Amino acid sequence: MSSQANETTQKDWSKAKSVLKVRDLRIHYDTPKGAVIAVAGISFNLYEGETLGLVGESGCGKSTTAYGILQLIQPPGHIVGGEIQLDDRNLMGLSEREFRRLRWTKLALIPQGAMNSLNPTMKVHQQIADVITTHEGRQPKEKMRKRILELFKTVGLPARIYDMYPHELSGGMKQRVCIAMGIALNPSVVIADESTSALDVVVQRVVAQTLLKVKEMLGVAMIMIGHDMGLMAQMVDRIAVMYAGKIVEIASVQSLFKEPMHPYSQVLIESIPSLKEKKPLKITEGITHDPRNPPPGCIFQLRCPFVMEKCKTQEPPLRELKPRQEVACHLYEVSETGEVKNVAASA
Ligand SMILES: Nc1ncnc2c1ncn2[C@@H]1O[C@H](COP(=O)(O)OP(=O)(O)OP(=O)(O)O)[C@@H](O)[C@H]1O
Ligand SMILES: [Mg+2]
Repeated sequence: MSSQANETTQKDWSKAKSVLKVRDLRIHYDTPKGAVIAVAGISFNLYEGETLGLVGESGCGKSTTAYGILQLIQPPGHIVGGEIQLDDRNLMGLSEREFRRLRWTKLALIPQGAMNSLNPTMKVHQQIADVITTHEGRQPKEKMRKRILELFKTVGLPARIYDMYPHELSGGMKQRVCIAMGIALNPSVVIADESTSALDVVVQRVVAQTLLKVKEMLGVAMIMIGHDMGLMAQMVDRIAVMYAGKIVEIASVQSLFKEPMHPYSQVLIESIPSLKEKKPLKITEGITHDPRNPPPGCIFQLRCPFVMEKCKTQEPPLRELKPRQEVACHLYEVSETGEVKNVAASA
């Protein structure tokens, strides 16, 4: 783990100011066969200067959460309920016009697959200039040029690409152009959705380092969405593990990697390949439920190796079982003295 990540993860985030608060966010996609429950009531805080990782398997609702926070959900999707606060300002009541002023300037999203959606007919500097002029109006050409070159420097892009088209750039460079667009207006929160996916491992690290550098330089708080637990371990301060539209565990990187408590987090951590110890790839058995018709009780019950009767009827709430480690699982009981007991282990 990088020393940088180690240093930041030691911080007690509970004492930090939260810049973004998400409470009971619920998002559905209406389909002819019923509503797909993509985000099923999630709550979390993002603290000032923090990088929060959002992980979970494909389809668990990571991108929908990101789009929901920025109110960019397109039909047939819609936000069913919940609260989102940015710097103590409630975002849910804002009109689209008011929200448009916040996007990029306060809250920025680098969307999944952004590098493939750059306009192939426009030079990269024009695409960044567009973001700036849309929010700030026209600016003197030389001032704009300086600003874009400064952004290039921040994300580690050479000045020579200023007049290039996206197809002339490597994948890593295109991704860095997208990061430059994301931070062009100095937002206080950046959400990077799978910014390092679809790149080879070396470039992945470079892009990941770029995001960290940007975070340090601008002091932004960041939500980093991804699959790669190894990369996450080095990049983020805390991790929220999502399963089927819910956060099942949220903890500091150290706690989650040292002692994952939710059975799904345990599978994710155990699936990280290790050279020291050759282990069979662990796959959770059982089927996933229909996202239109989740079972009552725990969302993970069909795949959980420790499933109990209670799990089939009662939904486990997210509880802080250890300092800064919240887990939604019936496996744990807390005694009156605050001792946490694993029910399966002591049975
Ligand atoms: N337009 C849509 N119509 C219907 N269902 C949708 C739509 N978009 C997403 N979904 C469903 O919502 C759920 C969450 O999707 P989402 O894209 O947020 O997942 P994700 O965690 O970002 O996945 P990935 O890791 O593959 O990017 C999935 O079950 C998906 O099938
Ligand atoms: Mg996604």
